[in-house]
Amino acid sequence: MYDDIVAVVKNEPLTGGHFLLNLHSPRQAQATRPGQFAMVRLLGHMDVLLRRPMSIYDVKPAVSPQDQLAPVGSPEIIQLLYKIVGRGTRLMAELKPGDQVGLLGPLGHGFFEEEYLPLAEKVDEILLVAGGIGIAALLLPARQIAKAGLRQQLFFGGRTRDDLVAVEDFESHVQGITLATENGSRGHGGYVTEPLARYLGDHRHQQFLFMACGPWAMLRASVELARQYGHSCLVSMENRMGCGLGVCLGCSIRVVGTGHAAYERVCTEGPVFQAEKVIWEREEIPRI
Ligand SMILES: Cc1cc2nc3c(=O)[nH]c(=O)nc-3n(C[C@H](O)[C@H](O)[C@H](O)COP(=O)(O)OP(=O)(O)OC[C@H]3O[C@@H](n4cnc5c(N)ncnc54)[C@H](O)[C@@H]3O)c2cc1C
Ligand code: FES
Repeated sequence: MYDDIVAVVKNEPLTGGHFLLNLHSPRQAQATRPGQFAMVRLLGHMDVLLRRPMSIYDVKPAVSPQDQLAPVGSPEIIQLLYKIVGRGTRLMAELKPGDQVGLLGPLGHGFFEEEYLPLAEKVDEILLVAGGIGIAALLLPARQIAKAGLRQQLFFGGRTRDDLVAVEDFESHVQGITLATENGSRGHGGYVTEPLARYLGDHRHQQFLFMACGPWAMLRASVELARQYGHSCLVSMENRMGCGLGVCLGCSIRVVGTGHAAYERVCTEGPVFQAEKVIWEREEIPRI
């Protein structure tokens, strides 16, 4: 983990208030593992003191200035895929090439292959389940799963078609993609957990491993489906964070256990947890 001041290379607007931010940060890019995140600090804005947590969407080699199309060498660029929801992300959207931000990362316990591969090798297929900007946590795992030669499907839901960003980045990694929008503007009309439930019902004799990231309600519904059909499930949680370093306890969630052991920090023990470990209740900062 490094705490660096890094330069913006590109901040590309996508649909629906989403952006793809490219930051030049070779040592952080090279240290990144799938499912990890970074904390972004906006410099020069005293009203946005807390760093904002963002999944590391992708890491890329730098592009040679002589040939804008030819990537060279090992990863140097960290990509963050984000959506404007408030003051911090609105300021992020104003970043221009050459601007600087503070970047703390890579952080957290992500989708680590030594943990999910033993589970994945016992199942017929991995189901990546994403809600909204939760998609940002899943590209690096999808690429690693594809490299391991395992089958995977993506189920991706959003409010409208504009939320279904970056679908094309997954196409070469997965065997199938199912999209859903709440307003019916693309794919299934409704929640993504509806076609997911249908898929599970149609493939009752197969075993799946879920890897899910998205809003709390979607995670909870996915976990319930996994439980109902007897499948393993890993979830990446997106709780609000203070420090990102395990110090403030602001991101703690309740897990199975008693006393102090009954809380874990999303920033340190997570963001990825085994679903059966999490107690699925809405709770603000615990008093411990
Ligand atoms: C591990 C992790 C990874 C994340 N990865 C991404 C990512 O890749 N891309 C991305 O766009 N966002 C991601 N988020 C969420 C992101 O951190 C928040 O959207 C951001 O901090 C909001 O900052 P803001 O100043 O714009 O909004 P604020 O003004 O702080 O809040 C605006 C609104 O957003 C809500 N909000 C703030 N933080 C969160 C949160 N963590 N989860 C849900 N709602 C929130 C607030 O309740 C409020 O309604 C991630 C969060 C975590 C914990
Ligand atoms: S954000 Fe401070 S302990 Fe997790």
